[in-house]
Amino acid sequence: MLVCHCHRVNDARIDQVLAAGADGVRGVVRATRAGSGCGGCIPMLRELCATRTGRVTCPQHADAVLAG
Ligand code: FES
Repeated sequence: MLVCHCHRVNDARIDQVLAAGADGVRGVVRATRAGSGCGGCIPMLRELCATRTGRVTCPQHADAVLAG
């Protein structure tokens, strides 16, 4: 599934970078550039990262971990 249309990043690539140790949304953005264009995919990035890592982030601040 294509997550970031601006940088053509799919969920498989996001899974790869999380498995390689990327630290949440910030780590995914650094590794893939997903979310660094229009920003429209940020909510989906947050949801994917929370689902994959079990960590919940603040909806206003992608790097703030609220639980997990
Ligand atoms: S869709 Fe990801 S930054 Fe635009």
